[in-house]
Amino acid sequence: MTTRKPIKKAVFPVAGLGTRFLPATKAIPKEMLPIIDRPLIQYAVDEAREAGIEQMIFVTGRGKTAIVEHFDIAFELEATMGERGKDMGVLDSSRATPGDIITVRQQVPMGLGHAIWCARAIVGDDPFAIFLPDELMIGEPGCMKQMVDAYNEVGGNLISVLEVPMEEVSSYGVIDPGAANGALTEVKGLVEKPPVSEAPSNKIISGRYILQPEVMRTLENQGKGAGGEIQLTDAMARMIGSQPFHAVTFAGRRFDCGSKTGFVEATLALALERADMGAEVRAIAERLLAQPG
Ligand code: G1P
Repeated sequence: MTTRKPIKKAVFPVAGLGTRFLPATKAIPKEMLPIIDRPLIQYAVDEAREAGIEQMIFVTGRGKTAIVEHFDIAFELEATMGERGKDMGVLDSSRATPGDIITVRQQVPMGLGHAIWCARAIVGDDPFAIFLPDELMIGEPGCMKQMVDAYNEVGGNLISVLEVPMEEVSSYGVIDPGAANGALTEVKGLVEKPPVSEAPSNKIISGRYILQPEVMRTLENQGKGAGGEIQLTDAMARMIGSQPFHAVTFAGRRFDCGSKTGFVEATLALALERADMGAEVRAIAERLLAQPG
């Protein structure tokens, strides 16, 4: 196995306005909405840490300060809990190592590609990961760990993919798949939000990426694409051929927490699995389902 430059940095684009969850997201970032007792952003950061990533780069915007506060030390809270003898273990994963949370601002929403490009100075010449926190990926190991393992074998660029019904592909980036080898599929082409009739497959990009730093140079002169936005997918498509590009089919479950029903599904699924509440939640769900609609 060749030694690759390790993936130590991750970019989290979190500047989005979260309009689909209004009014809940009027004063708090959508990434702070909790699935039970952990905000969405925490699931993504935990997944990154599990994969060996150390530096978390948040591409934020106005009104997103709560995300950064979340990973800080809450001095008053901890002092008070300490005095009262409360267990502070619940706060452990939300305390970042000093210096490991870095933020840059995306001043104007110009698309995912633009958001990633805003992190170019911090990414520098290192390969890096990207997490779209709306996509909640649950697996053992987690999605990014599976991708880092694949990266250690093939290097280059990797995206996580999953299959959706053909009629849903127009909401996503879609791959043109080449040769497959286990969970790895060669990527021959990429297209962002194609009409169903033009989609090269039903394998969609599901919100996790490992990219080489050259993508930043490609994004620099990337024109607007689907929806009039600067698309990451378009920049990646232009890199195919000059660098290895693979898709990793994630062995695990994915919840689309950018949609309200996906959010409810994730909440219910994870609650049912929890040792501290699963049985109670199951009884509640069964009672509610037994009631006439
Ligand atoms: C973005 C990406 C798209 C990807 C999707 C996954 O789209 O541009 O390629 O499939 O995330 O959620 P968005 O959901 O921001 O429109």
